[in-house]
Amino acid sequence: MARPRTIYRCSECGAAEPKWAGRCPACEAWNSLVEEIERPAVSGRDVLLGGGAGPTTSVPLPIAEVDMEAWAPSATHLGELDRVLQGGLVPGSVTLLGGEPGIGKSTLLLQALAGLAKDGRRCLYVAAEESAQQVRLRAERLGALPPNLWLVADTALPHVIEHIDAVRPDVVAVDSIQTVYDPLLSSAPGSVAQVRECAHRLVRLSKDRGVASVLVGHVTKDGSLAGPRVLEHLVDTVLSFEGERHHALRLLRAVKHRFGSIDELGLFEMTDAGLAGVPDPSALFLADRRPGTAGSVVAPVLDGHRPLLVEVQALAVPTNIPSPRRSAQGLDGGRLALVLAVLQQHAALSYSALDVHTVVAGGVKAVEPGADLALALALTSALTGTSAAEDLVACGEIGLGGELRQVHQTARRLAEAARLGFRRAVVPSSALVSVPGMEVLAATTVAEAIRVARVGPSVRGVEDRQAS
Ligand code: TYD
Ligand code: MG
Repeated sequence: MARPRTIYRCSECGAAEPKWAGRCPACEAWNSLVEEIERPAVSGRDVLLGGGAGPTTSVPLPIAEVDMEAWAPSATHLGELDRVLQGGLVPGSVTLLGGEPGIGKSTLLLQALAGLAKDGRRCLYVAAEESAQQVRLRAERLGALPPNLWLVADTALPHVIEHIDAVRPDVVAVDSIQTVYDPLLSSAPGSVAQVRECAHRLVRLSKDRGVASVLVGHVTKDGSLAGPRVLEHLVDTVLSFEGERHHALRLLRAVKHRFGSIDELGLFEMTDAGLAGVPDPSALFLADRRPGTAGSVVAPVLDGHRPLLVEVQALAVPTNIPSPRRSAQGLDGGRLALVLAVLQQHAALSYSALDVHTVVAGGVKAVEPGADLALALALTSALTGTSAAEDLVACGEIGLGGELRQVHQTARRLAEAARLGFRRAVVPSSALVSVPGMEVLAATTVAEAIRVARVGPSVRGVEDRQAS
């Protein structure tokens, strides 16, 4: 059989070139040529007869008669994963599981396949990075050796397809898409051309045979590595697995999901026996909190639909450097700068000779504007040394005029706070809600919020200054 030719296509203008060049001869874009397999052009007669696709097998139906049974998701029995997928894996769907190396993608996948296999689904795990022995060792550690879970170590795409044909699984997982390669392409495994071609073939195979597939994709911290980005439009679901390497907490989100909303957040903890779901994350985040410490205020933030209580911490220390340090971990640096400016302008609190460090404890992120008010109160408390009441939470966005603005779903956030034993909340006046078991304090400006939260300069301190 003649070997199919490959060509280089410009990803900017679409021009096809027989040879690679650093610059596209047609549109002069730099570094835009990507190798692909040349497909024979379709003749005009073929177009009339169905474009060479052969006779159709699908039948148009009134929309209400479309069978939904075939699309029922299969549960993985990993509660947090099923929550994000809203039920489980849909037959014939393709899911891309992205995350930094070492975050726990292979572990999550193995546990999910074991859950599906225990339910009677036939699963095939294609290890393209590790040996079969390595994967088995991990599976043993996870207690994941059900008879319905098949394993093969291979990297060549034609072999992978052969294995899928031989095992005929309900679910296939390829770990990872960056290490499988199509020998027809001369580009290296992991290149845009290889990743795109291999994913294309696996997506087609999934759809044709109704096999649910999961493709693992590595991304680096800045998301720059080729691979997952070019695949997002090809697949049905894109999951992102995140977390700080030095913390056990792992967050799973859907970035794209054709079978449901992308608002669910899954939380796991990496343990010695694999990933364990965290059903009550707020309690975990607040476990090490030391009430009565100045510079600490709890904020109920929302991640998707999930309310989370996080501790916002601030520390202000004198410095001699002309431009003092500003650090924000788990918080948005831009919002920190904004809150500091507003405190200076509208609450007469100056940090100009102080290094300011702010952190969201527990390795989580609170980058939404709803955390502004807790940050402002934590910064104030750090400056004055007056700690906030231990049963107080604060939520609201801060405007440049020092005004407080409501954030969505205040009632839900406060209900979660009340569940964990918080009894007082400071919120913008426009978001005044009543929550059983909680005293809700309203404020219209950040200065007023500092007053009602009682973290401002103490009255005695002011009197002392007046006396001297
Ligand atoms: P892994 O799933 O291999 O990550 P990825 O596939 O994303 O590269 O696992 C990453 C880390 O998790 C690894 O350094 C070891 C650790 N780990 C545990 O702490 N407990 C476990 O039970 C397992 C299987 C792994
Ligand atoms: Mg891995």
